[in-house]
Amino acid sequence: MTYTPAENRYDSMVYNRCGNSGLKLPAISLGLWHNFGGDANHDNKRAICQTAFDLGITHFDLANNYGPPPGSAEHAFGSILAEDFKGYRDEMIISSKAGYNMWDGPYGEWGSRKYLIASCDQSLKRLGLDYVDIFYSHRFDPDTPLEETMGALDHIVRSGRALYVGISNYNSEQTRKAAAILNDLGTPLVINQPSYSMVNRWVERDGLKETLKDLGVGSICFSPLAQGLLTDRYLDGIQEGSRGSRPGFFNQKMVNENSQAALGKLNDLAQSRGQTLAQMALAWVLRNGGITSALIGASRPQQVIDCAAAIKNLSFTEAELAEIDALADEDKIKLWANS
Ligand SMILES: NC(=O)c1ccc[n+]([C@@H]2O[C@H](COP(=O)([O-])OP(=O)(O)OC[C@H]3O[C@@H](n4cnc5c(N)ncnc54)[C@H](OP(=O)(O)O)[C@@H]3O)[C@@H](O)[C@H]2O)c1
Repeated sequence: MTYTPAENRYDSMVYNRCGNSGLKLPAISLGLWHNFGGDANHDNKRAICQTAFDLGITHFDLANNYGPPPGSAEHAFGSILAEDFKGYRDEMIISSKAGYNMWDGPYGEWGSRKYLIASCDQSLKRLGLDYVDIFYSHRFDPDTPLEETMGALDHIVRSGRALYVGISNYNSEQTRKAAAILNDLGTPLVINQPSYSMVNRWVERDGLKETLKDLGVGSICFSPLAQGLLTDRYLDGIQEGSRGSRPGFFNQKMVNENSQAALGKLNDLAQSRGQTLAQMALAWVLRNGGITSALIGASRPQQVIDCAAAIKNLSFTEAELAEIDALADEDKIKLWANS
């Protein structure tokens, strides 16, 4: 079926400026880490992307290794771009990354110039694009000089492969160094992509939010729903078909008596705010404009609809924040204790 984007797609989404740059990102962005691999239904992938775009979600986030198998999410999204979004490329922000293990041998991961530039070329081929909007160093490489990694990002922009550069999973100290190198090169750092949610608050302990504000760099936080834990999906244990029911990155130990009791109370609080638990979790990361965009994943279109509606209420009372702090305590939920 031919897809025609909704005419009112820009009516309700909020767009936030990404640091001091000219780039605006939707408050809710869609990531294709899960549910876009070779084993997933193609029509569902299309429906998820169409629903997102119809709701003003203009930003789609990928990485070389998303799948399984690695590369298949970019390949699927390339097909979807050709099938459904021809003529809409200039309304979309598409990102990809390189940093994790992608191919055999010494040049298939981390942060060398060799790996980053080759991987970017491979991503463009899979996506069927001439350029991505944002290209990221997916993780800090302790063994490669940061000047080399940032130099590769600068080259990727100067050679027309990307418009902006970002870093992901870099802490405050690493971010300051990366930003300084990129400034000297004349390709400013536009965005950092850290993990962040009510139950994963390392960016607050690290001071990353303040660092990014100070540097004028934007932020997009991944797994704001803690991979689905902060939704109604785990209130009664691990539901069949959920991410937690499948082998992978979701630690099943996260769903335990303590977390379920806390999730039940958080769900009550969300309902008292007129929100679903997922909506409240997204509103929480976006509160006070501290984060440019919340980067969600989805296994079905309805989840995207639910998440996009989070922007209707992004403010919290002091009492609500205190209750969330008491309930969504990393130690109690023992979720990311070793993260
Ligand atoms: N830079 C990095 O190192 C890094 C790492 C991880 C992720 N990311 C990026 O961040 C994106 C999002 O990560 P994530 O998928 O872990 O994010 P998430 O939003 O925390 O979790 C997404 C999962 O939550 C469930 N869900 C979503 N909306 C829901 C709703 N309204 N109601 C009930 N359940 C809902 C779905 O689980 P079910 O599948 O169980 O339905 C969905 O797959 C990725 O796609 C990727 O782009 C980046």
